[in-house]
Amino acid sequence: ALVSLRQLLDHAAENGYGLPAFNVNNMEQVKAIMIAADAVDSPVILQGSAGARKYAGEPFLRHLILAALEAYPHIPVCMHQDHGTSPAVCQRSIQSGFSSVMMDGSLMEDGKTPSTYDYNVETTRKVVETAHSCGVSVEGELGCLGSLETGEAGEEDGVGAEGKLTHDQMLTDPEEAADFVKKTQVDALAIAIGTSHGAYKFTRPPTGDILAIERVKEIHARIPDTHLVMHGSSSVPQDWLKIINDFGGDMGQTYGVPVEEIVEGIKSGVRKVNIDTDLRMASTGSIRRHLAQNTSNFDPRKYFAEATKGMTEICKNRYEAFGSAGQA
Ligand code: G3H
Ligand code: 13P
Ligand code: NA
Ligand code: ZN
Repeated sequence: ALVSLRQLLDHAAENGYGLPAFNVNNMEQVKAIMIAADAVDSPVILQGSAGARKYAGEPFLRHLILAALEAYPHIPVCMHQDHGTSPAVCQRSIQSGFSSVMMDGSLMEDGKTPSTYDYNVETTRKVVETAHSCGVSVEGELGCLGSLETGEAGEEDGVGAEGKLTHDQMLTDPEEAADFVKKTQVDALAIAIGTSHGAYKFTRPPTGDILAIERVKEIHARIPDTHLVMHGSSSVPQDWLKIINDFGGDMGQTYGVPVEEIVEGIKSGVRKVNIDTDLRMASTGSIRRHLAQNTSNFDPRKYFAEATKGMTEICKNRYEAFGSAGQA
C-alpha cells in the first residue's frame, strides 16, 4: 500500500528504528528492494531523483513504483521525490502521485549554489503548505553536504553544491535547525554532518572529525521530535569495490559511511538513510563479474538477474542493520 513518509517515520520513531531510502532508476533496482523487503518484512521508501526522471522518464518511473505496490500489496511503500530544486518540481511530483517530496532549499534552483537561510525557509514553507493539503509529506534540508576533509561538495555527477564550502556550511547548526522546523513544519529534516553524494566520500575510514555523528546527537537533543535524514549514506562496500576492480573496473580507493555509524545515528533520531551508490556498485560489480566469467553469454536477463541478486543482498543487510526488518 502507498503510504506517506510521515506515517513510516512516525512508526520508525515510536519503535526506535531507521529506514533505508533507496534511489531507483530501473526495474532491477525496484525489484531488488522489494524482494529484500518481502524477505525480511520491512517497510520501503523508493525515491526518484531528477536524474532518475531524466533517465527513465516520469511515466516509466511512476509505473515501476506502482508495479511494486501491485506486486507486494502487503508492504507499505512510500514513493518519495528526492532533491526537488523548486516548489514547481515538487508540485509536479505531487500531481503525478508521489506520497512524499523533498524540497532541497539548501541550494538555489540550479542545484549548485548554496542559498540563504531565508530563501530556504520561504521555499520549503511554501511546499509544505501545498503538500500537506494533499496528504503528502515534505523533507527539507538544512546545511550543505560536503567533505570536511577537503571542503568540496564532492559530487562527481553534479548533484550538490559547486566549489568550496566552509566548515560551518557543512555542519547543520542545532539552533538553526530548531528555528527551521518551527517555521517550515517539515515532516523530516536532512542534516549535513560531513557526508557527500557519490562513491568518493572519505580518503580514509572516517573518524569523528570528518563524520560528525556527535552533531546528530546535538541536533536530536535540541529537536527530539523531528525525524532526521542522513543523505550521502552509502557505505561503499570494500568487497564490491574489489569485485569491480578485479573484473576490469577502475575505481579509486575510497571509503563510505560505516553501517555502525549509521546505527549510532539511528539511536539519535535518524529515521531515513539515503542510499544510491551502494546499489550502483553492487549492480556494476555483479554485471562485470558475470560478463567476465561468461564471455559467450549475450542474454541481458542473465546479467541483470545477477545485478538484482547483488543489490538484494545489500538491501537485506541494511533493513536488518537499521532495524526495519520485521516492521512492515
Ligand atoms: O541525490 C543523489 C542521488 O544519488 C541521485 O543521483 O541524480 O545521479 O540520480 P542522480
Ligand atoms: P549516496 O551517494 O551515498 O548513495 O547517497 C544517496 C543520496 O543521498 C540520495 O539523495
Ligand atoms: Na530525499
Ligand atoms: Zn541526497
